[in-house]
Amino acid sequence: MDLPFDTSEYTNRQERLFAQLPESSILIIPTNDRKIRSNDVVYPFRPNSYMLYLCGWKEDEGVFVAHNQSGNIESILFVPPRDTKKEIWEGIRIGVDGAKSWPASNASSIENFESEILKMIGQFDNVFTILGVSNSIDNIAKEIEGIKDPRPIIDPMRRVKSSREIQYMREAAEIGSQAHKFAMANATPEIGEWEIQSSVEGHFMNCKSRWSYPSIVGGGENGTILHYNTNQSVVKDGDLVLVDAGCEVQGYASDITRTWPVNGKFTEPQREIYELVLKAELAGIEACQNESSWVSIHTATSEILAAGLIELGILDCTLEEAIGDPVEFNGPYRNFFMHGTGHFLGLDVHDVGGGRQGDDDKGPILEPGMILTVEPGLYFSSWRTDIIIPERYSGIGIRIEDDILITDEGPVVLSSSCPKEISEIEDIVGSGI
Ligand code: GLY
Ligand code: MN
Ligand code: MN
Repeated sequence: MDLPFDTSEYTNRQERLFAQLPESSILIIPTNDRKIRSNDVVYPFRPNSYMLYLCGWKEDEGVFVAHNQSGNIESILFVPPRDTKKEIWEGIRIGVDGAKSWPASNASSIENFESEILKMIGQFDNVFTILGVSNSIDNIAKEIEGIKDPRPIIDPMRRVKSSREIQYMREAAEIGSQAHKFAMANATPEIGEWEIQSSVEGHFMNCKSRWSYPSIVGGGENGTILHYNTNQSVVKDGDLVLVDAGCEVQGYASDITRTWPVNGKFTEPQREIYELVLKAELAGIEACQNESSWVSIHTATSEILAAGLIELGILDCTLEEAIGDPVEFNGPYRNFFMHGTGHFLGLDVHDVGGGRQGDDDKGPILEPGMILTVEPGLYFSSWRTDIIIPERYSGIGIRIEDDILITDEGPVVLSSSCPKEISEIEDIVGSGI
């Protein structure tokens, strides 16, 4: 059996979930559909994260169904049956007999799913499923009235990691950190962004891992584009390169950003912005304390960045004016720092359970076992005409991102082996080690 957790960890998740669902509920969790690229070529398959969380099924078809009645939880995992003709092309399947050792009370062929589920649904008062994951489930759901979404109950559970989940995330952060380090060491001016991508992702693959989101490798001005990932330009001597790349271990993500001069030496303007972003990042990490609010982390990074922008003469106003409304964060510092300070991290890179629910909500309160990113940045795209971009900083884009575990003893930086101090970076870039 190829499961990253003991059966008891899955059944414990299922029990905790059903303890919060009403009596007489049925839960239907599909895995992701395969997506066709063309003809018989499919996009790389990634199992659905809720499926991974509740029963660990990784094949590219499958539905986990569970229900409760009179306090008993029963579950059934519908899976593709063994099929020699298909297995010759696609590989040997676990099959219905094999699936019986997965964390479900029973297993059945997915070929029976539609007829079985229509019979089962009639026996329960509440139907919970996640729409938009599987076309066939969406089609069945059209026939059912009053479908409920289980995510508001599962997401707070996923937000707090168990010790085994933390261990996988530590591994993902360590592989990610070493991948960034390897890319820094092996860079020289005029390197292609794609070559840096290859260093980073090659290291992921050497560690039997793979990316958790498409790697961003932005040289020079490309580093100012928040979700740049074409990675097809050459990085010129004197330019910075922003590398935002992370990997997965057992489905659990890391998400790390480093920005460094491709020739190994920061220019003065680059250094000024880098030092400011690093100061904001360290303040954001320090704010990651047990029982702190989500918003307090954003406040910590925002105050440093806004004050620094004033000090550097980029903004000409008071700190309060630069930040704007202390709830909305809508002041002019947002012209240069236009994204959030971070997000939860887990089975999804932008993991569940983050953000604020309303304008004056302070977001989730942090507790031990939560893992989130802290990733302030400043971006000065030369082509912007809506604001004045100071000549001295034109074309600079800098973000620094680490993965932080909340503990009773304060924040633990899971990606701490990835260099980020200026002296460390200048030592390692181009060193070949
Ligand atoms: N890699 C996407 C992000 O940092 O949120
Ligand atoms: Mn991130
Ligand atoms: Mn990132």
